[in-house]
Amino acid sequence: MLFLRFTLNILLQLTLLSALHAAKWTYSGPEGEHHWSKNYPYCGGAFQSPIDIKSDLLRFDPTLRPIEVHNYNLSPHEQLTLGNNGHSVQISLPSKMYISSLPHRYTAAQLHFHWGSSGRPAGSEHMVNSKQYAAEMHVVHYNSDKYPNISMAVDKSDGLAVLGVLFEVGEFNPAFEQFLKFINGIKYRDQKVQVPGFNIRALLPARLDEYYRYDGSLTTPPCYPSVLWTLFRNHLTISRKQFMSLATALYSSHAQDSAPVPLNGNYRKPQLVDNRVVLVSFKEGRGLQGTLTVTSPHTRKQIIQQLLVGDLADLADEGLYRLLPSGLEKIYPGKKNNLKNQQSGSVSKTKQQMLNPSMWKKSQINRSVGKLGLAEAPLCYVSLEHKIFRQLKQSHAENQIVQALRDAVFPDLNLKSYLDCKSDLALPTIRHLLRGRPTDEAFELDRSLTKALMNQGKPSTVIKKTVPMTKYGSLTPVPVPRKPPSQGYPHPWLLPMEWED
Ligand SMILES: *[C@@H]1O[C@H](CO)[C@@H](O)[C@H](O)[C@H]1NC(C)=O
Ligand SMILES: *[C@@H]1O[C@H](CO)[C@@H](O)[C@H](O)[C@H]1NC(C)=O
Ligand SMILES: [Zn+2]
Repeated sequence: MLFLRFTLNILLQLTLLSALHAAKWTYSGPEGEHHWSKNYPYCGGAFQSPIDIKSDLLRFDPTLRPIEVHNYNLSPHEQLTLGNNGHSVQISLPSKMYISSLPHRYTAAQLHFHWGSSGRPAGSEHMVNSKQYAAEMHVVHYNSDKYPNISMAVDKSDGLAVLGVLFEVGEFNPAFEQFLKFINGIKYRDQKVQVPGFNIRALLPARLDEYYRYDGSLTTPPCYPSVLWTLFRNHLTISRKQFMSLATALYSSHAQDSAPVPLNGNYRKPQLVDNRVVLVSFKEGRGLQGTLTVTSPHTRKQIIQQLLVGDLADLADEGLYRLLPSGLEKIYPGKKNNLKNQQSGSVSKTKQQMLNPSMWKKSQINRSVGKLGLAEAPLCYVSLEHKIFRQLKQSHAENQIVQALRDAVFPDLNLKSYLDCKSDLALPTIRHLLRGRPTDEAFELDRSLTKALMNQGKPSTVIKKTVPMTKYGSLTPVPVPRKPPSQGYPHPWLLPMEWED
């Protein structure tokens, strides 16, 4: 992440001193997931995966295109490596396989599985409305437009794209059998066999246009927050016998170890959603009525640009409502003019006539059609911003946030969802963005925003607590009186590579 780079140099030195061996990790016991962050600090950080995808996290995004996979139909003449790495069963994939429907080309590297145990056939990592499926497949791709190989991509915010497929016990699955029949050749850790290629597309659901999308992480150490997740809506089945074969055939220990350790239950528990949203490419079906629709990332970027370099008077008139939590305009349709009139005129006298009801109406087209209340909207990503401020504060670089944001309007921090977030920017961020702008204009805008937010029926406690009503001139970096960081940010960047997804 961008902000971690500020301290990269210091960390480089520290990391070189530390052991270069990958630390052991498991799914249970003293090296279990609650202890991962001791050796792999990202595991205790932001944007972690998997998550429990609950309905209220969903935001319909009409711009999400169907996933397009290429060269997934492999010939039996192509040899694939099937391996047991002690954490999962993994199949290497040829680099001619790729996804084309994302902003970059993502080239396939490998696929692997997570599953339950013979006594408990529930081992998917992602859950949907708290339902855990029997197993989950991850097809791991890396951004080959930007990085030469997966090792270079794995720790970059836009480095990886993973396709997730949920499996339920039911009908026999012939595609699954294509590698399962070789599984006894890789019973022990670090064993590998060559297997004939098969149609990997058959391991994906028929519909590639219906999926959940969010920003997350590797679900295994080192847990880099580098994954653009696509979890397909529709699950596949495997037979009970197939599931049992997967759940009982493998060991996470080496062949020569005296006590064999069965390899099963290899799933990480759901992580904090942390104000992320989950974009969905579909909105038909049970429980999906009233799903919010996202503000376009383009609009959001425009606003940020305008805050940084644009005409603030324009924003005060035209853009103010877009910075506010959606829903406001429904509750205060008539207050908009009040707000303007209360505002002392210096910014916007010339623009005042633009602010008429028809403009207002036009500007709120298709916003806020959901069931979420006002209280929820302004919280969007506030905690992420807090993390950033906290991080910068620890490295005594509080003032760099504006520069960091200005550099490229967020492309490097994993802020894809952030830009998609329904409720736009948090006030602290707006204020930081406004620093450095002409003082009276910025002050005016800041005041209007504060006033508008205070007018809300239920003001956000976060904003209320963390943003003292200071004068613009005495703005200080926003204090973060929330719980202390559980993990020392920033994190070592150069941890040894050992990862599966
Ligand atoms: C990945 O690319 C980097 C940079 O070109 C190179 O140094 C490294 O050896 C490559 N790693 C692998 C595993 O190919
Ligand atoms: C608003 O929603 C309606 C109905 O869903 C749609 O027909 C229209 O094109 C939308 N307008 C915009 C500007 O997105
Ligand atoms: Zn995985």
